[in-house]
Amino acid sequence: MRKVLVALFALALAFALAQRYFTEEELKRIETGGKAYAEVFVGQRPDQALCSIHRNRLPADLLPKFLEEQRALIKYPASGKLMGDWRKGGAIFNDLRKANCFSCHFGSPEHLGGDVGPSLEKYGLKRGQSEAVQRYTYEVIYNSWAYFPCTVMYRFGAQGLLTPEEIADVVAYLLDPESDFNTKPAVGSK
Ligand code: HEC
Repeated sequence: MRKVLVALFALALAFALAQRYFTEEELKRIETGGKAYAEVFVGQRPDQALCSIHRNRLPADLLPKFLEEQRALIKYPASGKLMGDWRKGGAIFNDLRKANCFSCHFGSPEHLGGDVGPSLEKYGLKRGQSEAVQRYTYEVIYNSWAYFPCTVMYRFGAQGLLTPEEIADVVAYLLDPESDFNTKPAVGSK
């Protein structure tokens, strides 16, 4: 009996919280997808719910707060260094089961890259290694939504897929002029 009550309470709470993000009309439409679908949908984190409601195009008046909240999620390596070991970063970038960056981005010397995201070919040679470029690259990888709200790119640090140190290794892979990424031709490069 207690279990049932707890489950009921949890469900009521989930719906009550969801009410803040979805109108009655929207909730009704969501429920037409079935019970399991509705539970997953209304159980979204608030930021994901916001993206869903606005079909990944946030209205301008919501952007400042959204960007600020996403920025606040970013954590940095304890060492303070945003460029780690490019060899380790390459192993992460090119592993389908790890970061899988190449599936969306062209530029890897090991795998033919995809075109879901922009080409990163010779990224470090084009952008340089300034503190601003290091920070931008680190932050985009840690939480892409801090720059591109609702983008499909995984939010590697914010979602706990990579540690800050691993992200710094990937930053080095992209930026270090000695890295294979910048010295070897990208697969498929013309
Ligand atoms: C699911 C696809 C996807 C994956 C996986 C992905 N990205 Fe992206 N990435 C994107 C898209 C799309 C953008 C462009 C943002 C936008 O406009 O929505 C982007 C943008 C970027 C940018 C900014 C590019 C610029 O020109 O300033 C960098 C850097 C980047 N990604 C690096 C990475 C790295 C490194 C990884 C792996 C750790 C990765 N991405 C994984 C889709 C992806």
